[in-house]
Formats: sequence, structure tokens, C-alpha cells
Amino acid sequence: MLNEKTMRQAPTKRSEQIPVRKPQWKFNDLVGQKPRSDFGRMMFGAMSLVFPEGERFFIRSVKHFASHIKDESLAQDVKNFIGQEVQHGKLHEIFNNTVLGHDYDLQPFLNWYKSAMFDTVEKYATQLLGEKLALSVTAAAEHFTATWAAHGLSSGYLEQHINNQDLLDFMQWHAVEEIEHKHVAFDVLQEVDDSYVLRAAGMLFCATLLPFVISVAFVSLMRQALQQGVGQAKSIDILAFFRDGFYESRNGGIMSSFLPAIVEYLKPGFHPSDHDDYAMAKKVAERIEKRMAAVA
Ligand SMILES: [Fe+2]
Ligand SMILES: [Fe+2]
Repeated sequence: MLNEKTMRQAPTKRSEQIPVRKPQWKFNDLVGQKPRSDFGRMMFGAMSLVFPEGERFFIRSVKHFASHIKDESLAQDVKNFIGQEVQHGKLHEIFNNTVLGHDYDLQPFLNWYKSAMFDTVEKYATQLLGEKLALSVTAAAEHFTATWAAHGLSSGYLEQHINNQDLLDFMQWHAVEEIEHKHVAFDVLQEVDDSYVLRAAGMLFCATLLPFVISVAFVSLMRQALQQGVGQAKSIDILAFFRDGFYESRNGGIMSSFLPAIVEYLKPGFHPSDHDDYAMAKKVAERIEKRMAAVA
């Protein structure tokens, strides 16, 4: 009854391909520049701080079960998923160090994040509850990133709020690839153990920890902006900040899609590829690939 392979009716569709692109953005134009939206920069900054270490955790948790995968095309998808996530981590670290690091001290948050979430929570949770739970948390996290990616690409929010072409390409590139590989961790989990309870437990952990760490990162940036008045933060417009925050929470931003994403994921028989947004992702990917070729 709680075995999901028997619950799922239709065969699921996967992304046609998961290409590992290697963009070369340096983001030097953004250093010390005031963004169109301080709220948007800080929200993206908070997520960008969380991504690299988080993505290394995703890779670890999937890699742990790589030898269990019998389906050859899924085994290849795992390799490409790892390739894409490695690139995401690299690019976010360049953005974090170059752009955010110019205005903020990132180390206190990064040190806390690694020690609390990975050296402690991951270590003891996997010891107590097993590696399958880590894989299940990754599958849930990938559902959030794919949901946010679809919102980001379809809502027009990114184009409206970002006036730097490299930054827009960077965010859309990550969004495209989150859609391209959104089935991978989920399908590995289903192959390893298709228990609904395990899948729901992963979502429970993820839905608690992910907003918590993003909030801690956000507060660490906001506190520095308000208290130290460094760089761009010196001229932060508080009214615009809260107006943008309110707008973001109502117009397809990550906050407004958080609860619906949980409800959707907990539906028995759910599969990430039930949302066929591959054509949209492909269209954006073609534009970004042209830009990447022009920049290289
Ligand atoms: Fe990613
Ligand atoms: Fe991902």
C-alpha cells in the first residue's frame, strides 16, 4: 500500500538530455553595483550562499547509491546530474566571493552552515536513520529547486528585476538545469527504496531545514547591510526593500510556491516529470547557449 511503484499509474517522462555546460561568467561588472532590487539581491544572495555546500550534499547522497542503479540511462543521468551540480557550485562560489564578498563578510554564515548542517545534522541523521534518508532529502530539495526554477523562468520575475545580462543568464542557466535533472535524485530514490513514508520523511526534513538555512543566510546579509552600511548596502532603501519583499511573496516567487510545492510532492504517486516544463527550459537553454558562445 505504501509502495509507490504500485501507486504510480502512467509511465513518467524524463528530460531528453542533461548537458553539462561550463559557463565562464566572472561577474566583475556587478562588484559594488547597486542592484535594481535590494530585496531580490539579498534573497538570491542568501540562496547562492546555501547552494554550493548544499549541492555537494546532493552529490554525496546520490553518489552513495550510484552502484545500486540498474537502469543504464538513469546511471548516465546520475553522471550528468553530478556534472551539472558541480558547475552550479563553482559558479555560485565565484558569484559569492566576487559580488557578495565585496560587500559582506560571508565567513560567519558559511562556517555555521557547514558545521551545523553537514558536520552535525547530516552526520548524526545518517548515522541514526541511514543514507536513504539523505537521498530522500535530496529528492525533496530537488523538487524545490525545480519548482522555483519553473516559477523563475515562467513568471517574468527575473527579467523584471535583473538588469545585468550575465546575472540573468546565470540564474536562468541554473534554473534550466534544475528542470533538466529534476527527476534524477527522485528516480534513484525510487530505485533504491520506493517507500512513500521514506519520501515523505525526506520532505519533512527538507521543508524544515531549507527555509531555515536560507533565512539565516538572509538575516546575516540584511543585518550587515543595516548595521555596517558597507558598499551597496549603504544606500539601501528600506521602503523599496519591503515593497519588493511583499511583491515577491505574491508573484510567483519562491515564498509563494513553497507550500504548494510541499503539498504537490506529498501526493502519493507524484513524479517530478509530471510537470512537463521541458520545452520552456529548452527554449531558454538555446538562448543562453548562444550567449555563452558569444561570451567565450
Ligand atoms: Fe543546482
Ligand atoms: Fe539540482
